[in-house]
Amino acid sequence: MCGIVGYVGHRPALDVVLGGLRRMEYRGYDSAGVAVLDGAGALTVERKAGRLANLEARLDEVGRGHFGGTAGMGHTRWATHGAPVDRNSHPHRDASQRVAVVHNGIIENFAALRAELEADGVEMASDTDTETAAHLVARAYTEGDTKGDLTASVAAVCRRLEGAFTLVVTHADHPDTIVAARRSSPLVVGVGEGEHFVASDVAAFIEHTREAVELGQDQLVVITREGYEVLDFHGDAAQAKPFTVDWDLSAAEKGGHEYFMLKEIEEQPEALANTLRGHFESGRIILDEQRISDQDLRDVDKVFVVACGSAYHSGLVAKYAIEHWTRLPVEVELASEFRYRDPVLDRDTLVVAVSQSGETADTLEAVRHAREQKARVLAVCNTNGAQIPRESDAVLYTHAGPEIGVASTKAFLAQIAANYLVGLALAQARGTKYPDEVAREYAELEAMPAAVQKVLSTVEQVRDLGRRIADSKAILFLGRHVGFPVALEGALKLKELAYMHAEGFAAGELKHGPIALIEEGLPVVVVMPSPKGRAVLHSKLVSNISEIQARGARTIVIAEEGDETVRPFADELIEVPAVPTLLQPLVSTVPLQVLAAEIARARGYDVDKPRNLAKSVTVE
Ligand code: F6R
Repeated sequence: MCGIVGYVGHRPALDVVLGGLRRMEYRGYDSAGVAVLDGAGALTVERKAGRLANLEARLDEVGRGHFGGTAGMGHTRWATHGAPVDRNSHPHRDASQRVAVVHNGIIENFAALRAELEADGVEMASDTDTETAAHLVARAYTEGDTKGDLTASVAAVCRRLEGAFTLVVTHADHPDTIVAARRSSPLVVGVGEGEHFVASDVAAFIEHTREAVELGQDQLVVITREGYEVLDFHGDAAQAKPFTVDWDLSAAEKGGHEYFMLKEIEEQPEALANTLRGHFESGRIILDEQRISDQDLRDVDKVFVVACGSAYHSGLVAKYAIEHWTRLPVEVELASEFRYRDPVLDRDTLVVAVSQSGETADTLEAVRHAREQKARVLAVCNTNGAQIPRESDAVLYTHAGPEIGVASTKAFLAQIAANYLVGLALAQARGTKYPDEVAREYAELEAMPAAVQKVLSTVEQVRDLGRRIADSKAILFLGRHVGFPVALEGALKLKELAYMHAEGFAAGELKHGPIALIEEGLPVVVVMPSPKGRAVLHSKLVSNISEIQARGARTIVIAEEGDETVRPFADELIEVPAVPTLLQPLVSTVPLQVLAAEIARARGYDVDKPRNLAKSVTVE
């Protein structure tokens, strides 16, 4: 969702800010804007609805020369309050046009604040919640105890705001200073030589520095050319956590690929290997920041996996493994539903919150709900120091590297691997698996990067198929056992990228309704289990394929290499390497990702930035 960048340094701020916004485009947005302080008391703002290219064209029109200065900020907005039009785009200014504010999140008490300002005679220029913050800062800066003190003014306003927010504030009187604050919404500081950055995401400044500082809850930072100072909302000095970003610029660039998503699909073997690395030492599974004791793990009597979208599908996959290895009941639930249905939780419940971004509002709220009910929460997350891991009792990081394409690919595979590590850690603590069995399962996981690499070397056939079926009206996906969540994930990828109607079904459910959808020529993708692993499942699925083939479906079958029994039923056969049943999703998902991307390309869509979607969904 919204992307924020602020800069004070020695380079032209407009270039730095636009560069940062470009790197955060992947978060999803519908308008963009910049503000630059020229050092001589001028604060120049430009905003434009639509893509960043529209803003750049506007800057060319007015002349970029008007935006001289080495301090500034920028914003990409994903509309919440007010339509995505120019006047609702950020930055927003106060009436004197001396204060500019950009904001991510939702100010929940904005209606009351707006009414108060309007009663004071302030005229609003937009429909946003953000604009109230600009007027409030301006008012705090001109009156009372905070008069003339920008930092104290911002802190005073933050104390009044309810909801989640990252705010970045500039004032024309302070051309060498930017003040930023956060509550339940991301904000990191980039520490350079004679320059400092604030951003919602390290991608915004990774090309300038990898040294970063993660701000805590209800903290505020003042950046200047020379340094940064962290305070709480009462103006007292506060501690924030420095860290070094463990990936570099090349990870945030396309590296010769047409789309980030295509690059990220290819990075999956590495993402898996990096996620597994270091988690099996001296014969034991080790998690990362483990603030749940072994005794607590032994006491767990129920597991919930809560997540959204693809992350939820990774939980559905993991349920099979965790229940099998630990004999604990596992419920997998959409985070947006979880907290509204009063789930039964207590201190012996382990809630695994899976989130690539670590910012997803639905998942964050589920984490909070679980902790209020005294459950232990373990986050599986791809983003260092994000809000979900911060609010959890333990975290296991997926080291997939930055995922920039909006559709999750490498993070999804890494989430499955990480969820499996959680399952093995539980089995180890509870003694439901002997150490040598845990070691064997881990070794099988370790063999997966090579298996995924093998799939990648054969996907040209899938691309060709994608082009041939790109004008289909709809595509159905079927699977059983771990193949069922793979079918759901394949359908989700197709919906979001190709804007095509797609549904995933448990193959056994076909005859209870969905078979009515089958018509002549309808492509149906079937995810086959191994004929060796679960022979009974395999033969049931063969029957399902023949049922749909008999009704005219065009069957696209993903099956294990050498599975000859299925060949007669497959109009198109896509072979994947033989791997243990529980690990099959790691290989069978890959062709479905490629298929969705290729169909979307053939239909002329931007694979990295599907319409209406945001990478980090920071509102419920
Ligand atoms: C689908 C996709 C989304 C995310 C979901 C959760 O391709 O990317 O469904 O998986 O929005 O996001 P995170 O994992 O960041 O919580």
